[in-house]
Amino acid sequence: MEQKKLDVVLGLQWGDEGKGKVVDVLTPNYKMVARFQGGPNAGHSLVFDGDSFVLHTVPSGIFREGTVNVIGNGVVIDPVILLEEISAIEKRGVDVSDKLVISKRAHLILPTHRALDAASESAMGKAKIGSTLKGIGPAYADKTGRNGLRVGDILHDDFAALYQAHKQRHQQLLQQYPPFQLPFDFDEYEKQWFQAVEQMKRFPFIDSEVYVNEALDAGTPILAEGAQGSLLDIDFGTYPYVTSSNTLSAGVCTGLGIAPSRVGKVYGIFKAYCTRVGSGPFPTELFDEDGEKLRAIGHEYGATTGRPRRTGWLDMVALKYTVMMNGVTDLIMMKSDVMDTFDTVKVAVAYQEGDRRLESFPYDGGKDVTPIYKEFPGWNTPLSGLRRYEEFPREFKEYIAFIEAQTGCRISIVSVGPDRDATVVR
Ligand code: IMP
Repeated sequence: MEQKKLDVVLGLQWGDEGKGKVVDVLTPNYKMVARFQGGPNAGHSLVFDGDSFVLHTVPSGIFREGTVNVIGNGVVIDPVILLEEISAIEKRGVDVSDKLVISKRAHLILPTHRALDAASESAMGKAKIGSTLKGIGPAYADKTGRNGLRVGDILHDDFAALYQAHKQRHQQLLQQYPPFQLPFDFDEYEKQWFQAVEQMKRFPFIDSEVYVNEALDAGTPILAEGAQGSLLDIDFGTYPYVTSSNTLSAGVCTGLGIAPSRVGKVYGIFKAYCTRVGSGPFPTELFDEDGEKLRAIGHEYGATTGRPRRTGWLDMVALKYTVMMNGVTDLIMMKSDVMDTFDTVKVAVAYQEGDRRLESFPYDGGKDVTPIYKEFPGWNTPLSGLRRYEEFPREFKEYIAFIEAQTGCRISIVSVGPDRDATVVR
């Protein structure tokens, strides 16, 4: 008997590719949306009728009637941020009660994890990762160090004692760091944390691996939603300037409890150019007017931290690498309209490193390379009002065809503006 499969949607660059919008466009086809990694470091912006909403931990299917949203075991949860998000969603008149379930195996981010994140970044000085300071790294470090607190622990009678033991261990660790500025009021946050933990109990704590597999068997169409971006993957990203989870499609298996043979379509999202927040290699980064123009027109400021994003041209070396690593079946191109007024559009097709030409993505993320560009004439046409591929200007179709030829993958959705309907499905 043929196995039923779930589909995956994830970002192919350094995050912020516009997953929130795409998931929202794709969700009418799915009855379940599941997050499999990351935590509140993510910021998925959804835009409806010109109004925007940012999701950090809650899966992007939450605004759709009849869609169940799963926070999988691979996610790390800060209860305070989760509950703030839920209350903001409910303020918009959406009933979340029977639409959200949480894996017992998901790990909790403790207030001391946030403190440790701040201490570690401060101690690293110029070499800092540029983390979102949400405690992601320390929470995952405790998980793999077999020292974490999980959602299922909340239901244990000794939860408060367990928490205290973790807190004490973290406090000892914190003493080893040079003095640093704590970016929040610890006691107040701890108080809110316990309140939020209590409030989390209104949602079912589930064995998400059983839940998701049984739903698949029953024929439920499921979408697994990635966070961050492939080049921030802990194993294959631009290490150490990465996040602490497997953001690639392989992470779906460990982050939800799904066998590799049950992964169906892999939708890979990329921007028509590149951005990055935080530190680390970015071969096609622009420091000139073009870079500033991409930032201004694309509103390239972090959804979670508000930091200005670094901007640059599309990088085909990196894109081919992440298409390969994820087994992408369908490409989705975002924010094409941001480049509407450029006379020339560039794409990196290889890197020069000393006297060597590199065709594949290097181990160090290309920290010392110079990109070799292919130039395209700009389309100089507003794309955002167009709804059919046939209406696209010739120059833009050539840009699309080049990317498809290079990656060997079809671009099946082109986004031409932030609103849900500014989307061309081919
Ligand atoms: P952390 O995940 O907060 O530890 O941050 C590690 C790196 O990943 C930093 O460079 C962050 O800016 C980046 N990062 C984390 N989450 C996101 C995201 O959702 N979008 C873009 N970058 C992110």
